[in-house]
Amino acid sequence: MDRHLWIIRGGDRLEGEVRVPGAKNAVLPALAAALLTPERCVLRQVPDITDVRIMVEILETLGARVEVAGDVHGLALAVEARDLPHHRVPPDKMERVRSSSFLLGPLLARVGRATLFSPGGCDLGPRPIDLHVKGLRAMGARIDTEDGGVQAQVDRLHGAQIHLDYPSVGATENLMLAGVLAEGTTVIINAAREPEIVDLGILLDRMGAHVRGAGTSTIRIEGVARLAGTEHTVIPDRIVTGTLVLAAVMTRGDLRLRGVIPDHVRSLLMNLGGEGVHIEAGEDWIRVRARGRLAPVRLRTLPYPGFPTDLQAPLVAALTLADGSSRVRETIFTRRFAHVEPLIRMGASIEVKGDELFVAGVRALRGTTVEARDLRAGAALVLAGLAAEGETVIRGGEQIDRGYAALDRLLQSLGAKVSVKARESA
Ligand code: EPZ
Repeated sequence: MDRHLWIIRGGDRLEGEVRVPGAKNAVLPALAAALLTPERCVLRQVPDITDVRIMVEILETLGARVEVAGDVHGLALAVEARDLPHHRVPPDKMERVRSSSFLLGPLLARVGRATLFSPGGCDLGPRPIDLHVKGLRAMGARIDTEDGGVQAQVDRLHGAQIHLDYPSVGATENLMLAGVLAEGTTVIINAAREPEIVDLGILLDRMGAHVRGAGTSTIRIEGVARLAGTEHTVIPDRIVTGTLVLAAVMTRGDLRLRGVIPDHVRSLLMNLGGEGVHIEAGEDWIRVRARGRLAPVRLRTLPYPGFPTDLQAPLVAALTLADGSSRVRETIFTRRFAHVEPLIRMGASIEVKGDELFVAGVRALRGTTVEARDLRAGAALVLAGLAAEGETVIRGGEQIDRGYAALDRLLQSLGAKVSVKARESA
């Protein structure tokens, strides 16, 4: 992958209006769902990001045809998995997109076989898929997991009552994708309740599945014999929404976000106080105006509707300039602190104690050269660079393209001095 250098000259206020793209974490399971039918599935409002491009390559490796076209907003993907001659996901692609683990469900449901390798993605500590495997075994799959590989096969999946020890987003999606074509009823108890789960439930229902309770802790699925193609516009990306809200706060800007679902970022909006911060929200828009410093917060990340782990790093970037000391506990992933060391290099005052961060607000951050080691840490460094004095150079900026479509151009359109240089792959 080409390494990208982001060069940001801080100090400009973000002003203007942008439309938020479709949700990465809704598109990835939707692409897996398209494998469940031989008919054509069209996904609209898809962000043009690396993780989506890699997932498309994986589907093509399995034998699906994918047409990528421009859409009014983002991309339109037309997927046709008439038959799936291959059931092995290549390791190099697995390495880069962890979410390929929820291809297990559709492959077992459709062709009864699947071979994956240890899921990659960000380095957020161990990324096991034990809950996926346990659920699929309960549905009759024979699964061997050794030396980082997953070999799965089944004649036909049957429904089961599955209790998830933890409301895992990926495990919930995998089991929904397996249950819709299984023989009988599948009940997922302690299911994840993220908006992307609700969106997947809507897509599956449109394909002819019977999914009830998506978005609640108990999802009931009546298996059917086959599913049809459909057309589906994915929900807006709540993590991109939250990241841009924080960018407006940090640059004391005036930003209007269109095409959003304010309720999906309620836990963030409720935590943004301070006499200089004004946030208004309507049906599908949010307006953020900030004149003063952010009030400090004390929160922990939690499964939805709690504060999302994917916004922890961007929030911490904002809290480095808050009017006081904050405490943020990361309860979802063990090592999601790759943003801390580079923020300290920029002048932030952060202490890590176990799974908790203690952030003392400082007067200003100063630009320097930093490294983005994962997607959301990269976003946090972009935010810090926008607010810092001087120039910030972010190495490893290609991480940002995994989850943010053309973020540099979007920020330039709002008045930020951001440029990206592609370097020879390191
Ligand atoms: C999804 O990852 C998202 N990715 C992540 O977004 C997000 O951070 C995460 O949900 C939590 O909201 C996609 O949707 C593609 P989990 P996922 O299964 O499914 C443990 C981003 O930046 N666990 O809910 O992997 C796991 O180790 C990405 O966009 C098990 O122990 O999340 C973690 O500690 C990062 N065993 C916790 O549960 C399992 O079988 C949450 O994982 C599965 C998970």
